[in-house]
Amino acid sequence: MGNDGFGAYNIEDLRLRAKKRLPRGIFEYVDRGAEDEVALRHNTAIYRSLKIKNRVLADVSERTTVTELFGHKFAMPFGISPTASAGLVCEGGEVGLARAAARMGVPCTAATSSLTPMEEIYEAGDGNIWFQLYMWSDMDLTARFVERVKATGFETMLVTVDGPVPSNREYNYHNGFAMPLRYSPKLIAQVLAKPGWCLRVLAPQYLKRGPFRKVNNPPELASKLTQVEVESAYTKPAAQNWDDIKRIRDMWPGNLLVKGLQSSEDAVIAADLGLQGVVLSNHGGRYLDSAPAPLEVVPEVKAAVGDRIKIIIDSGARRGGDIVKAIALGADMVMSGRPTLYGSAVAGEAGSYRALEIFQTEMDRVIAQIGVNGIDELGPHIFWNPPDWIPKGVVAS
Ligand code: GLV
Repeated sequence: MGNDGFGAYNIEDLRLRAKKRLPRGIFEYVDRGAEDEVALRHNTAIYRSLKIKNRVLADVSERTTVTELFGHKFAMPFGISPTASAGLVCEGGEVGLARAAARMGVPCTAATSSLTPMEEIYEAGDGNIWFQLYMWSDMDLTARFVERVKATGFETMLVTVDGPVPSNREYNYHNGFAMPLRYSPKLIAQVLAKPGWCLRVLAPQYLKRGPFRKVNNPPELASKLTQVEVESAYTKPAAQNWDDIKRIRDMWPGNLLVKGLQSSEDAVIAADLGLQGVVLSNHGGRYLDSAPAPLEVVPEVKAAVGDRIKIIIDSGARRGGDIVKAIALGADMVMSGRPTLYGSAVAGEAGSYRALEIFQTEMDRVIAQIGVNGIDELGPHIFWNPPDWIPKGVVAS
């Protein structure tokens, strides 16, 4: 697509265009974080703070960003994180995300709370679709749901575990976008201020699919976004524990990962339970505001689990160079949710693809600039003057 990708030359360009097109409450729901947004800002700042050394005259003419994970080749070590709001930024948004990911050759994760049926998303993804599970406290209900995920054909499932209680997002109270959705004068004014969104997203949604609903919810649970979240008692069950993960391990034959942990202690438990991986994540700064950035905990987690399980990280990557830094520290893949949602808000599938294309071309450029031909050549030696949390022992000269 070169430089004509909607005049968007980087992820921030897509973000600013998305901001113009979406009602304020929806944009902020995608864009913002918990409490004082310290974690949100830190997630991206930490990437910016790491410097990497250029290396010259290294013949990088044969370089590639391709990687392999769980027996699949991907165009780069990047995947789309699960997000529940793709259908709010673009009609049938999850399908566009899945198609864009398939076209680029990277994985995309369908969310339990998505507004499009998991089967439709899976079909669109050409085999590269992972599934994100929120466990309900009724484990029999969860077990039946996992059977449906399995029957759909998904091979890889991430269980999100960082929400034992709902998070504190004060901006939602200010902008009137708290769940369950209430058609308050504030919200109606925001929607009317974006007639383009009404035409592109709201009208086709109602005509084709009816009111916004978490369509994958089992019939026992409420699904309309306007309904009192009876299921919040189920989806954020404070009683969740590792025995629940053991039970899911027993019923899920495919790759199983837990998403939302940030400590080597928890990663070791995950490895001991026979999981295939962990997704280190502070939920994009949307839950614990004093959390470290996942990038910072990669070295300690890697030291604790070695090659026993895969380490995927999300939260904060906005440049292809960020992927390079995470892989150099020991991550196997980087995920991110907001960049492709911004793209989706701007131009549906083509916009999401543009976000992926930006990551891939930036990553390709950076590895060339640091004299690297493939991701197996990345390591802590690429950093200039690394900070203390990068163990000195593994920094090559
Ligand atoms: C859901 O996972 C959210 O962060 O809103």
